[in-house]
Amino acid sequence: MAEHTKNTLWAGRDILVGKDANKMIFRFLSRSENVALARLLAAAAVAEKDTTVAELDEIKVAVSEAVSNAIIHGYGNDPQQYVEMSIGVSRQELLISIHDDGVGIADIEQAMRPSYSTDGRMGLGFAFMQSFMDDVDVSSLPQAGTTVTMRKKLA
Ligand SMILES: Nc1ncnc2c1ncn2[C@@H]1O[C@H](COP(=O)(O)OP(=O)(O)O)[C@@H](O)[C@H]1O
Ligand SMILES: [Mg+2]
Repeated sequence: MAEHTKNTLWAGRDILVGKDANKMIFRFLSRSENVALARLLAAAAVAEKDTTVAELDEIKVAVSEAVSNAIIHGYGNDPQQYVEMSIGVSRQELLISIHDDGVGIADIEQAMRPSYSTDGRMGLGFAFMQSFMDDVDVSSLPQAGTTVTMRKKLA
């Protein structure tokens, strides 16, 4: 994991959440089947919580969108790169961070605008993340990569 510490974009290492929190870091190839893996890992992380089925679905969609973006946009569908996901779960909140070392985003505000897409897609990925999670933070540098951190309050 040494390379993570070199990359200032990699927020996953000190994923915020308090002392009582459970924390996990996963690293997987940028293969499309790993979108489903990431979604299931996120759902499994809150298995002990009183999460409703609707909330679980929201978490799964948000994670799918962020991981798909890392693979499709960040890595241009190159399946040999790594996507990193860190999860923190405390009593009050779930924090998920998705990171790629891909092309990065030059204008984050523009990228997050509903219907904006650089390759003729729907452009609703960030809109879903924002409506399904309580907080979405994107940090990115062109040619360095992107980290999307999402927070959801747990009842
Ligand atoms: N991880 C990423 N790396 C590089 N660019 C990204 C990343 N995530 C999103 N983007 C950019 O933001 C745009 C909007 O993303 P999104 O709302 O998910 O729409 P879509 O994926 O349908 O294009 C993408 O078209 C892409 O240009
Ligand atoms: Mg998308």
